[in-house]
Amino acid sequence: MQENITPEDKKKKIEKREEEIRKNLQKIKHKLVVISGKGGVGKTTVAVNLAISLASIGFKVGILDVDITGPNVLKMLGVNPEVKPMVDPDSEKFYPVNGPLNIKVMSMAFLLASQDTPVVWRGPMKMTAVRQFLGDVEWGDLEYLVCDLPPGTSDETLDILQLIPDENVIIVSTPQEVALMDARKTINMTQMMKRNVLGIIENMSGFTCSKCGFYIEIFGSGGAEKAAEDFGVKLLGKIPFEIEIGAQGDKGVPFSIKYPDSESSKAFKGIINVIQEILD
Ligand SMILES: Nc1ncnc2c1ncn2[C@@H]1O[C@H](COP(=O)(O)OP(=O)(O)OP(=O)(O)O)[C@@H](O)[C@H]1O
Ligand SMILES: [Mg+2]
Repeated sequence: MQENITPEDKKKKIEKREEEIRKNLQKIKHKLVVISGKGGVGKTTVAVNLAISLASIGFKVGILDVDITGPNVLKMLGVNPEVKPMVDPDSEKFYPVNGPLNIKVMSMAFLLASQDTPVVWRGPMKMTAVRQFLGDVEWGDLEYLVCDLPPGTSDETLDILQLIPDENVIIVSTPQEVALMDARKTINMTQMMKRNVLGIIENMSGFTCSKCGFYIEIFGSGGAEKAAEDFGVKLLGKIPFEIEIGAQGDKGVPFSIKYPDSESSKAFKGIINVIQEILD
């Protein structure tokens, strides 16, 4: 016989799940959520390199790839997607995989048959997976959990932002006007949702030719400062465009491990200093 589920039952079930998520994440000291307005501006690059920079100075760090349809964290971090997370059959909890510098990693990519398998789930299925990642992954006692979100201000992004308790939102933008226009909307939305915005990171911010040293602001300048000022948030830092960042992202060796003395790695270090100052 089919069970009759009333709207009241449904509401209680959702509230119970949200409480489980809150409990599961409360052991983690700081939750950093990386979002953007526009796609392809470097969220995953920033999330991965922030995690690496934090881990390299001794913090216990985890990274959660919540971009269910386009999970790129494993690729950029150089983690083998064939290594599957352990699942405790009794508690049904997942254990994240250990990545470089002992970073705990969880991603939808672990659950896909191959890297070419598309995720064709619709909204409700994606959100069930997100809730599982947030509520059923045993992170242990982390100091930082970096969450890489899908691009834009879709329902999915809003739901994820609502589900993560006490999160600190980092907005990534490139200096182009179209990217900044969308970033401004995202800051506005995040503030309307009363989430804590830590600040903006400007990515692909200027390029210095390694041969002749000529510096050029390929995508313009000044927009991120203006957005930060207009919305009363901090400009956490600027990461230059470096050809090697793209190449390293493709090879799965994050830039800040391979080139610790590069301008970008220094920029990431500067950004984590600012983040620590704000959060401590
Ligand atoms: N500062 C940079 N210099 C050079 N290349 C970069 C830089 N930042 C990111 N890239 C490259 O740009 C591409 C897009 O970056 P990334 O995948 O991190 O963006 P994203 O915002 O996560 O994209 P999506 O919206 O699809 O999730 C990648 O190939 C990455 O290696
Ligand atoms: Mg991404």
